[in-house]
Amino acid sequence: MSILPTIDGLHSSEALNTTFLESLFACAADIEAQPSKYSQALSGKVIATVFSEPSTRTRLSFESAAHRLGASVITVSDPKSTSAAKGESLSDMMRVVSSYCDLMVLRHPHDGASRYASRYSNIPLVNGGDGRLGHPTQTLVDLYTLHKKWGGQFEGKTVALLGDLANGRTVRSLAWSLAMLGVRIVLLPGPGLDWAASFEQRIVDHFDLRLRWVSHPLFAGWTGNSEARIIEPCGLVQKDLFGTEVPKLQSLDALYLTRLQVERGAVSTASIFPGITPEIIENKLLANCLFLHPLPRCEELPSSIDDDPRAIYFEQAANGPIVRQAVFLAALAGQDYSLLPLRSLSAGNNVHSLKECPNENCISRHEGVAFPWRIFGRLRRVFLCSLCDAQLAVDYIGCASTRKFHAQHSLTAQRISPENMHPFSQRTDAEACGFVWGS
Ligand code: NCD
Repeated sequence: MSILPTIDGLHSSEALNTTFLESLFACAADIEAQPSKYSQALSGKVIATVFSEPSTRTRLSFESAAHRLGASVITVSDPKSTSAAKGESLSDMMRVVSSYCDLMVLRHPHDGASRYASRYSNIPLVNGGDGRLGHPTQTLVDLYTLHKKWGGQFEGKTVALLGDLANGRTVRSLAWSLAMLGVRIVLLPGPGLDWAASFEQRIVDHFDLRLRWVSHPLFAGWTGNSEARIIEPCGLVQKDLFGTEVPKLQSLDALYLTRLQVERGAVSTASIFPGITPEIIENKLLANCLFLHPLPRCEELPSSIDDDPRAIYFEQAANGPIVRQAVFLAALAGQDYSLLPLRSLSAGNNVHSLKECPNENCISRHEGVAFPWRIFGRLRRVFLCSLCDAQLAVDYIGCASTRKFHAQHSLTAQRISPENMHPFSQRTDAEACGFVWGS
């Protein structure tokens, strides 16, 4: 049990586990089979959708889900119509709006906004997309769509993530959950659009995966390189692992396309953004491959593909309200519908011995507050901002009881209990806080 406080709600796909997914998907399937059984399930409840970024599918599918469960909806679809336009902080807004409703869905441009907002509300908060960080309910929609297509069998499937991995929150959330489900993940970022190596390392470490390379001529047109990284469970034994050549990938079970996230400053250095065409989908690699996209789409996904039976992105979008009904039930009435509760996330440690979060888009920098941190990993311990997951430069650790500080990887530092830890980037910072060098 964590001694640190936890936050309720659904903020990140890191809070999902397989038993929770099973109960959620069983509930979603029952909602599809017998929708009228649920029509008054949340009668008397008020759900707020607070969206500070444009949205069609996410907001409307949450609202449709609330209505279909008999709940009432209050909404902010344009931040210019709220006091945010007068400079009101997110924390003040959350304190107020949370007293008007039983659950809030928040979409916000800054990384970690959802976790931060939940500190100021005593109701469950569901992340409807925060900056580049996460979009856990889109992941649930994506997984439910694949769950139906694959009869719940994820283990050993191969899924490729294509396009803007650096700025897309949907792929980030999805990668974590696919790894948890034993899926092999091929990474196909457009040129200059790869995500931070530290994020990928965290997935590999957390699920004890293996990172290697696979090749295919199609990859060159997408990424500029015919070889691509694949992360997969270590248990998969393949004869091509022991050769010296990079093995050719034979087939893909799903391809997850994304658009260039221009609103987050993304620019494509290649003349064409990676996507598919009627010619590309004739390639043997994609013979049995499902095409998914969180939408909205741009040139990466031409409408000439829509009638292909492998194109399931509109089915995926149609699953949005169903999955989000199940999320609302899990948060507000789980015990009545055999649903596991939403899992809490550690709120992190508030010992503020570090300077500002290195991520310029972290909500802590925009609200002008100190950020909490958490420790990740056992063997390879790293420190993360608890709001936006940015990896922190920590070279020294002070101990609150001895007032000594030590090198991060020393044995003495590893023995300090989390509640006594003061992480520092530099010796001078530790000394300025009154700690003396211990070893
Ligand atoms: C995504 C988002 O907002 O992150 N859209 C969505 O929620 N379906 C993807 C995107 O906008 O590209």
